[in-house]
Amino acid sequence: MRRDWAALPEAVTAEIAARVGGIIDAYPAPSGNHAEIASTVTGSTDTVFVKAASTDLSVRSLRYELAVTSAVDRYPPAVRWHFQRNRWLVVAAELLNGPHPDLSHGSKDLDLLGVALNGLQATPAPPGRWFTPEGRLGFAVPGMDGGVLIHSDLNPANLIVTANRLRIVDWAYATKAAPWVELALLVQWLIGSGHTAAQAEQWLAQFPAWTATDPAALAHFASNNASKWSAKSQHSTEKWMHDLATWTGEWAAHRQGRRL
Ligand SMILES: Nc1ncnc2c1ncn2[C@@H]1O[C@H](COP(=O)(O)OP(=O)(O)OP(=O)(O)O)[C@@H](O)[C@H]1O
Ligand SMILES: [Mg+2]
Repeated sequence: MRRDWAALPEAVTAEIAARVGGIIDAYPAPSGNHAEIASTVTGSTDTVFVKAASTDLSVRSLRYELAVTSAVDRYPPAVRWHFQRNRWLVVAAELLNGPHPDLSHGSKDLDLLGVALNGLQATPAPPGRWFTPEGRLGFAVPGMDGGVLIHSDLNPANLIVTANRLRIVDWAYATKAAPWVELALLVQWLIGSGHTAAQAEQWLAQFPAWTATDPAALAHFASNNASKWSAKSQHSTEKWMHDLATWTGEWAAHRQGRRL
């Protein structure tokens, strides 16, 4: 859960200040809320994006994200430096400047996403201990295991359009899996951005990993994912959870209809 910059102990801000030439401004990210601290930090000699964590769970998550972003090329922001002080883990990354992409039907930004996905889907997972699909998702579908590192949370707020390509942030849920799992987890965001389920599937059909996947596995995945979010949303008043329940439900109903 996001906390105010003032929650950082003096020793921690002093260390950050030393690395950026004195802090001129620390501006919290307008999206996301899991990381305790996620802010653009402007100093007199450098500007970086800082994530920091102090609770056991969020330190573990940030340490995992640090391992992923240090091991994966091209798409994540480059890690600039990190340190641990007074129970806080602090990670500074390259500041990415640009808007989040528009993932609505027919948007030009989808081409950038397509290029990034093709690149990621062709890159074997680097050595490391990564989440398994079942560990990450809480359900199992035959064929989910595989050899690429999928991001698994490609919602538009985690994507940034820069001058030359789409960049991807927030790697805390990266998972070693079959490439189609990334695509199956993207359906909800395409629907949330305005695609119908049929349009989302049409767009995904450009990827070999999508067309090669057994339709029964996709249907099974869609139904498990929808059940998961439907159950979770019943215990929550958070809008994003209800949105996910709606969007995953739309895809599951579409897949169910295809089988009748
Ligand atoms: N390196 C970066 N450069 C610029 N902006 C970034 C960078 N990393 C993250 N952001 C922005 O900050 C927001 C929050 O970051 P991130 O998603 O990593 O944090 P989080 O709190 O763990 O998120 P969530 O609640 O989505 O899990 C992102 O949505 C993105 O807009
Ligand atoms: Mg995020």
